[in-house]
Amino acid sequence: MGFPKHRPRRLRQTETMRRLVRETRLTVDDLIMPLFVRPGKGIKQPIPSMPGNFQMSVDVLVEEAKVLQGLGIPGIILFGIPEKKDEMGSDAYSDEGIIQKAIIAIKKEVKEMLVITDVCMCEYTSHGHCGFIKRDEKRGHLDVDNDMTLELLAKESVSHVQAGADIVAPSDMMDGRVGVIRDALDEKGFEHIPIMAYSAKYASGFYGPFREAAESTPGFGDRSSYQMDPHNALESLREVALDIEEGADIVMVKPALSYLDIIRMIKDRFNYPIAAYNVSGEFSIVKAAAEKGWIDEKRVALEILTSIKRAGADMILTYWAKDAARWLKNK
Ligand code: PBG
Repeated sequence: MGFPKHRPRRLRQTETMRRLVRETRLTVDDLIMPLFVRPGKGIKQPIPSMPGNFQMSVDVLVEEAKVLQGLGIPGIILFGIPEKKDEMGSDAYSDEGIIQKAIIAIKKEVKEMLVITDVCMCEYTSHGHCGFIKRDEKRGHLDVDNDMTLELLAKESVSHVQAGADIVAPSDMMDGRVGVIRDALDEKGFEHIPIMAYSAKYASGFYGPFREAAESTPGFGDRSSYQMDPHNALESLREVALDIEEGADIVMVKPALSYLDIIRMIKDRFNYPIAAYNVSGEFSIVKAAAEKGWIDEKRVALEILTSIKRAGADMILTYWAKDAARWLKNK
């Protein structure tokens, strides 16, 4: 065979020419910034395991949302640390809840910003699990009660949307939750509100720093009974198919980096918008290495985000959203 005589290698010579033939374009339009909100006033408390990220009180959060909007970032996703946690995670669906207050404040002042809310119980329950806990009397162990949790998730979603959320993102991985949330929203006249489903959410060690940030480490056991096994790929196709059938508008893969093959498979199989969550651990390992001077953070971060986009993600939830927006502007 041999090489053809005329290869288009000349197109690689200069940056300007490379720009013309580039296949993947990472832009600020792809980015969603996760933010953590807690009660209080004037609070901007650093999260040690995630440098550059903070637990913020609502007033500080609103200012941050303004800055992000100014940078052209289209959306934020909110995580709440409630005043107090209980067994039923009641702050999650209270109209006076921390997330509800945050949404109302942001919507008043930062009009263009899409506010996405993480719908889950783990930040609000005293045991740190993603749902209501029951004891299996026969087998003597504790487990999440899937169906009881569905009701609470539906209540939580409606309450977020009533406060002004633009998109709800259920991250709990209970079976059937997308359908139940869709029905609950429709019933209240919120047919137009999209659901971004965490469809392929793996039981991952990469969530470690987030659990410190959201104070949501499970008090006992782990989340393997409701999150996916990292060894499985085809299962993610079944999860996505179910979520789409139940009414998901955007499907998510999480984490992103160890699951780029999953993103590509879903992209090839379903003609649906895909979100990828570039999670806390993926961010923190780069930060830590950069602090030691072992790698160039900006270069590596943009390479990671580009790889997620190249794998097929239409949007990326990332703690680099703010930095990346600046980097992409000054490129
Ligand atoms: C659950 C939730 C988690 C993350 C987002 N939503 C934690 C978990 O499943 O344990 C993790 C995000 C990250 O690590 O950045 N509400």
